[in-house]
Amino acid sequence: MATLKTRDLIKRFGQIQVMHGIDLDIADGEFVVLVGPSGCGKSTLLRMIAGLEEVSGGELWIGDDRVEHLPPQKRDVAMVFQSYALFPHMTVRENIAYGPKVRGEPGDKVEPAAEMLNLTPYLDRYPRELSGGQRQRVAMGRALQREPRLFLFDEPLSNLDAQLRVAMRAEIKALHSRLQNTVVYVTHDQVEAMTMADRIVVMRDGRIEQQGAPLDIYDRPANIFVAGFIGSPAMSFLRGRVTSGQLSLGNQKIPVGVRDGDVVIGVRPEGFQRTDDTSGLEVEVRVIEPMGPETHVLANLVDETLVYERAADTASDIRAVLRIRVKFAPGARQFLRVEPDALHLFDPDTGARLDN
Ligand SMILES: Nc1ncnc2c1ncn2[C@@H]1O[C@H](COP(=O)(O)OP(=O)(O)OP(=O)(O)O)[C@@H](O)[C@H]1O
Ligand SMILES: [Mg+2]
Repeated sequence: MATLKTRDLIKRFGQIQVMHGIDLDIADGEFVVLVGPSGCGKSTLLRMIAGLEEVSGGELWIGDDRVEHLPPQKRDVAMVFQSYALFPHMTVRENIAYGPKVRGEPGDKVEPAAEMLNLTPYLDRYPRELSGGQRQRVAMGRALQREPRLFLFDEPLSNLDAQLRVAMRAEIKALHSRLQNTVVYVTHDQVEAMTMADRIVVMRDGRIEQQGAPLDIYDRPANIFVAGFIGSPAMSFLRGRVTSGQLSLGNQKIPVGVRDGDVVIGVRPEGFQRTDDTSGLEVEVRVIEPMGPETHVLANLVDETLVYERAADTASDIRAVLRIRVKFAPGARQFLRVEPDALHLFDPDTGARLDN
């Protein structure tokens, strides 16, 4: 196993630069998850590390070796792709056993891998006879035949159903704590990132926005982008103003430790509480989603001057997760209080976090 280091890593496709100087330091045995919106460069970065994509500038180190000019097979990495490539003329068993066979190894890890991946009944089938999720697991099984210096995973669970995804997530994590291998793992999935990572690296437009332990990023997002991207359901944002060290939220006043002036206020969904009085923010309920243990409330702010930007995914200003069962009718007016501890404050001009 090995460390991974990148210095000012740059990627251009023709005239277009898509990677703008990536500096990463990944420790031996660390499980790092890359997240970011579609097109931000996650796969490109992974492919550059694997040697499948040329590096346009900067340095790439695996352990003590500088590798950006080495061909993929000399880098000793195993990669599971977003679009898995299997040999169509080989059975599942032969696909998984291909690597060990080529290397003249015994292939005694094929059956255990198939067992772990729920592929045992399909070992004698051909890829065309499998579903997308099954093919993805074969690709995973193939990667697990090796003990490379570095494992690279590009959304390896994206085609699995919810239940299998949860199971595989746990398996990969268990495997990692057993093998202590160095992993770089790309995903869109918030929950995968939060639950699997030792460290999350949040990317946007070919740059690193923030990196850190999952809960540190969750608790202290560095800017509005990261705050909105990490966490599901997502953080709600409002406009606000701090006057003499006090933030007004509707008729709730909260002392804060930031400079006076305009701020963007972020509140995690669990930071809202319902009240029976008229303290806090007045909202108009749009949608109620009863989940069992909790109730998700999508609502709009009655005071339009507080609206920062309506969440694209819900068309609502506020997403609250209440630990109680409520029966609000859509259209009902309701007051929600904000837990002072749940406040995140940002500079409206730069988007940067204001230390509270
Ligand atoms: N071969 C290519 N030629 C030109 N541009 C490319 C090429 N491959 C990727 N890009 C561009 O590079 C950027 C990063 O792409 P990349 O595939 O790394 O994104 P991603 O973060 O993996 O996205 P997704 O989550 O959708 O998989 C995108 O803007 C993409 O259009
Ligand atoms: Mg990708």
